[in-house]
Amino acid sequence: MEKMFSRGGNMDSLKLRTNINGLNGSIDIPGDKSISHRSIMLGAIAQGKTIVDNFLLGDDCLRTISCFEKLGVNIRLDKDHVEIEGAGFDGLRESFEVLDTGNSGTTTRLMVGLLSGVPIHTCMIGDESIAKRPMKRVTEPLRQMGAKIDGREDGNFTPLAIRGGSLQGIDYVSPVASAQVKSSILLAGLHAQGTTSVTEPHKSRDHTERMLRAFGCELEEDGLTVKLKGGQKLSGTNILVPGDISSAAFFLVAGAIVPNSRIILKNVGMNPTRTGIIDVLLQMGARLEIENERIKNNEPIADLIIHTSELTGIEIGGDIIPRLIDEIPVIALLASQAQGKTVIKDAAELKVKETNRIDTVVGELSQLGVVIEPTDDGMIIYGEKKQLTGGKVDSHGDHRIGMMLAIAACIADSEVTLTDSESISVSYPNFFEHLDLLIEEK
Ligand code: S3P
Repeated sequence: MEKMFSRGGNMDSLKLRTNINGLNGSIDIPGDKSISHRSIMLGAIAQGKTIVDNFLLGDDCLRTISCFEKLGVNIRLDKDHVEIEGAGFDGLRESFEVLDTGNSGTTTRLMVGLLSGVPIHTCMIGDESIAKRPMKRVTEPLRQMGAKIDGREDGNFTPLAIRGGSLQGIDYVSPVASAQVKSSILLAGLHAQGTTSVTEPHKSRDHTERMLRAFGCELEEDGLTVKLKGGQKLSGTNILVPGDISSAAFFLVAGAIVPNSRIILKNVGMNPTRTGIIDVLLQMGARLEIENERIKNNEPIADLIIHTSELTGIEIGGDIIPRLIDEIPVIALLASQAQGKTVIKDAAELKVKETNRIDTVVGELSQLGVVIEPTDDGMIIYGEKKQLTGGKVDSHGDHRIGMMLAIAACIADSEVTLTDSESISVSYPNFFEHLDLLIEEK
């Protein structure tokens, strides 16, 4: 049977046909990107062995592995099973090569914090997108702790040079709700004198805190403040990575907006700091069932069933934003299929993601006929033109823009050509296989 997705003449441009009757079937969502990164980082600085299963084999997480290998950590990867020989903080070795974090903000920001307190010199570089993303949000508080970090524009941009040394704990009040900032400071705090605390304006994802506990570290949480004592040792452990709700989001939206669909998504991480997309779907009226809820390694997991739905526009802003920040591109597509207007606000952080996602979402969805306008801190989507048109669109090297556009193609009236679809491998290498599996053709 001919599948919907076929490579065009140019390897980089994917032609997406629109002969879909519905999306039906069941898929196992690949491992969570945030949790996969952290499993390698904590495994590397722990004492003893850590075993990780359902590790995400996306480019970003493979970068984290390669950085720690360059720092002398012994890591064995066999499909999605990883074994890490913990080196402890003291076992990390100076790398004669530059650490290349690729497209990964999490690798870059968390590793700067982790390495600030280790007495070695490290150079770190990423791709073109990383080179534009602000690093002051971590280098500034880390410098307050005594870290010696330099980089372009006084440490705001890569390449970065880190000369690790002794650190002093701080009480940091972060102006942004960012798990990368919080985690970077907490990882530095692990190796600092005294206590380190981070207070955020809204709660961001708490995978670092949960995983630190799984490695035997003690933390105190009080409202929006997390605190830990320096000098604690971590002990290697076994980790089963839950499916990434941010990857599941593309199929949750696809199931809701493509006619005649019913999709089962298995083993999806349901950490409450990540489930904003579930709240939005339910509030918009989606037919969504949550089954088989359970806890694995301090993280809640469930199976989700989504059906084609009648949707209504809503307003999205405030506390929920950090709980769905990565899902906003696909929520914009969802909103285009709802009755009435959807307003997304308080989301200026979108401007400093892999791309400026206010610009890329608005620009690319407009190409397909969506009536959408940018605002200073989000966007407004008018659910008036439900039939999307075909056309040429571009991921701009941003995995989540690429996947959102591929789902949009499923409801377009003619062919969509997607440029730079390769970027999708950053977080969901088998995305098109899964989409093909679900497609029922007309
Ligand atoms: C992440 C935190 C979020 C998120 C990113 C992954 C993490 O970024 O957007 O995809 O793993 O900590 P911020 O901390 O910048 O909000």
